[in-house]
Amino acid sequence: MKKLMVGNWKMNKTVKDCAEFFEIFNKGFTEKCEAWIASQAIHFPLVEELKTTSTKAGLQNCSEHVEGAYTGEISPRALRDMNGHFVILGHSERRQYFGETSRSLNAKIRTALKEGLAVIYCVGETLPEREAGHTLSLIEDQLHQGLNDQSLATAENLIIAYEPVWAIGTGKTASPAQAQEVHAHIRQMLKNKYPSFGDKTRILYGGSVKPDNVTELLAQKDIDGGLVGGASLKAKDFLALCGDK
Ligand code: PGA
Repeated sequence: MKKLMVGNWKMNKTVKDCAEFFEIFNKGFTEKCEAWIASQAIHFPLVEELKTTSTKAGLQNCSEHVEGAYTGEISPRALRDMNGHFVILGHSERRQYFGETSRSLNAKIRTALKEGLAVIYCVGETLPEREAGHTLSLIEDQLHQGLNDQSLATAENLIIAYEPVWAIGTGKTASPAQAQEVHAHIRQMLKNKYPSFGDKTRILYGGSVKPDNVTELLAQKDIDGGLVGGASLKAKDFLALCGDK
């Protein structure tokens, strides 16, 4: 299966930046891997228009509700209606700054899957949690709580992203061995939880993925791709992560 490279643009870019990105990216991308882009909600229709059909577009968050009196929220139904393919849920910045928890994310995951979106569910430990030796048990809790009772999950629509919080935007990457250890643990949990497809569920690594460390990370047995912040903002860097010049 092809590796999956997801660009998380976070709260960045202008209309001009989006246009410049796709002008370069569309020319260079040869589909060696799958490429998905999660823009800010306000740029979604623009990204839809600028990208080619070989790239998929999605968002970085959505509501647990599909419609109604929820001022300022993003409807997963509206995202799907606009041809959105996926949503990132449970990014550590959402957990840290917006009070999201694995339990509250359970409802968001359920609604997004029901509306026909693929979900990239993010898990990961902070540095104190790692130093206290709690990484694997914490990730087990995040997975159990977020994925509890998700009967609509399939090998295609559920993707897990392991992102150690201490590696996000810091320039510190987990070593390939550190990442593989956690990915193997996640793989085992998924196999237990979903015997029919757990071995096919894609598990992405995120946290300072860059052109110069991507090859080693992707060579690990249970790393199926990357969730990339900083290095997804420049088309040339993102192309390099996708295996293109
Ligand atoms: P980074 O961000 O690549 O800039 O570390 C990754 C992420 O937050 O998904």
